[in-house]
Amino acid sequence: MIKVGIIGCGAIYSVHADAIKTLTNACLAGVCDMDLDRAQAAAEKYECAYYTDYKEMIKEVDAVHLCLPHYLHAPIAIDCLKSGKAVITEKPMAIKYSDAVEMVDVSKQTGSPLHVIFQNRFNDGSLLVKGSLDDGRLGKVISARAFVTWHREADYYSSNDWKGTWDREGGGVIINQSIHTLDLMRWFVGSEIKDIDATMKNRTIPEIEVEDTAEGMITFECGAKAFFYATNGYGNDAPIWLEILCEKGTALLTASDAVITFNDGSSITSSHNADENGVEGKGYWGNSHKIQIENFYNNLESGEEIFIPVEEALKTQKMICDIYEKGRKTL
Ligand SMILES: NC(=O)c1ccc[n+]([C@@H]2O[C@H](COP(=O)([O-])OP(=O)(O)OC[C@H]3O[C@@H](n4cnc5c(N)ncnc54)[C@H](O)[C@@H]3O)[C@@H](O)[C@H]2O)c1
Repeated sequence: MIKVGIIGCGAIYSVHADAIKTLTNACLAGVCDMDLDRAQAAAEKYECAYYTDYKEMIKEVDAVHLCLPHYLHAPIAIDCLKSGKAVITEKPMAIKYSDAVEMVDVSKQTGSPLHVIFQNRFNDGSLLVKGSLDDGRLGKVISARAFVTWHREADYYSSNDWKGTWDREGGGVIINQSIHTLDLMRWFVGSEIKDIDATMKNRTIPEIEVEDTAEGMITFECGAKAFFYATNGYGNDAPIWLEILCEKGTALLTASDAVITFNDGSSITSSHNADENGVEGKGYWGNSHKIQIENFYNNLESGEEIFIPVEEALKTQKMICDIYEKGRKTL
């Protein structure tokens, strides 16, 4: 039985804890938060040990999940990897690309596995789109477009000390909210990125220093051009919208549901799995953490093929950092 600890007991940790609780080859041995009340409440809820110092907890566990502010992902992941622990970190891997590269290097040098959460790749809709692209049914990708229009207000940012900052969150709507949809877009197109252009604005949340809105174009080596628009200034958390235009048809992902429409008029629809993949989370986050976490522990235990290799997460980190490289100058 693999003993697991979670570091950070804020908004997302219970999605991880609920997922771990369903596994047969791993158990939740401890939770850690620098806030004693949070750590104690989490330990009581999940009937495990609690810690306020992660260095103490990692003496007792084999694997850790990082549910921490973005700026802590790299240093704490590297420390845990060097201590011989397997690490699953929430997205994004890091704020800086060079830090993410170092994380992967340390993982390789130490042999301690490193994994990054991109749970929406496991949604039925995402799998249908990827399958239809990979088996050639849709033909060559021509173009893509993505829209992430969600709602955040000033109190979302003021409720903690890291969101809405360059040094601790690393940006705004791109690195935090739309990273999932941009990751899916890159994965679906399935080609290396040739060039990125982007602009960023702060239009609706003047209290924060980072972008609340961004748009841009990604040119892929295969020739496909992908366009994106993301804002945290919309009136609600609207379903994400991601379309891949191909030679033989179009794949449209709305939230986690996909429709593939072929040029002859026929279509395929994915099954709706928003609540079926196990653990409850906010609907717009996607609900496939359990499947991704299960895949990671099955890989550790029995060598099951890992679905999202860490090199894939690294490519998405590079894309995000390159969007900031271009976009930040326009803010
Ligand atoms: N995959 C998803 O869909 C999804 C959804 C939400 C959040 N996230 C990600 O999860 C991560 C955490 O986000 P959140 O919204 O839960 O943040 P949060 O601010 O609600 O929680 C972070 C917790 O970490 C604790 N913490 C900070 N420094 C610590 C330290 N040194 N040691 C121990 N504990 C410490 C804080 O006290 C806090 O309780 C982020 O990377 C975020 O992007 C992912």
